[in-house]
Amino acid sequence: MARILITGANRGIGRALAAELSERGHSVIGTSRRPLDDDDAVPGIRRLPLDVTDRRSLEAAADALADEPLDILVNNAGIFGPRGAGLGRIDDAAWHEVVATNVIGAYRVSEAFLPHLRRGAGRKLVTISSRMGSIGANTSGGEYIYRSSKAAVNAVMRSLAIDLEAENITVAVLHPGWVRTAMGGQSASLDVATSAAGLADVILGLTPAQSGGFFSYDGTALVW
Ligand SMILES: NC(=O)c1ccc[n+]([C@@H]2O[C@H](COP(=O)([O-])OP(=O)(O)OC[C@H]3O[C@@H](n4cnc5c(N)ncnc54)[C@H](OP(=O)(O)O)[C@@H]3O)[C@@H](O)[C@H]2O)c1
Repeated sequence: MARILITGANRGIGRALAAELSERGHSVIGTSRRPLDDDDAVPGIRRLPLDVTDRRSLEAAADALADEPLDILVNNAGIFGPRGAGLGRIDDAAWHEVVATNVIGAYRVSEAFLPHLRRGAGRKLVTISSRMGSIGANTSGGEYIYRSSKAAVNAVMRSLAIDLEAENITVAVLHPGWVRTAMGGQSASLDVATSAAGLADVILGLTPAQSGGFFSYDGTALVW
């Protein structure tokens, strides 16, 4: 049984992944930036408030865990920003907000819970990024804001993989597929349960040899 923390676990992929891992017998802490009604909470999952862009919220969440160990940390919280952020249609404030959440937020969450991960077993630091952050796979252009944020978080996680290798912390970046959530929209090809089941398989199966890698929810390796 692994002790797992997932950010942005109140809806979408984070919620489904929390439910999937809990059903498989793992001990899951799901964070959300707003307090949840009991009806919205996933049964069996411990709740923890956390806004990944708020330093005080991060400190409070890390303090709440005190000296508890974590075996797996999943950076899932993310935003897309305005749709169709194409050439000549970029709003600076929106770009800042997306970077604050998807890049700096994921880095700060990793840093805040590193002491807990260092106390854990198996030690995995996973970030739900996106194939849209792949530079090599970008054949359609546009979406400057979201693409750049996911390419940047990929770079951050690759550095963490190198910097944490000596501590046996496996760092990986995952693409969840195109999933029917508020972000993915109703035309997306995957339901959340299928994405979450694949992500759970990949996360639980990650080995130190895969650290620094970028993988899809079905386990295939992706180009950076
Ligand atoms: N859906 C897709 O097709 C797809 C494809 C590739 C990658 N992804 C990635 O998968 C992850 C989850 O996406 P999703 O489709 O499940 O999106 P979603 O349904 O929009 O859910 C996003 C989650 O992130 C949380 N969040 C956003 N900003 C936050 C903050 N500052 N602090 C804490 N939590 C915050 C949201 O909380 P609130 O409820 O408070 O807003 C929500 O729980 C994201 O990183 C996304 O980029 C999704």
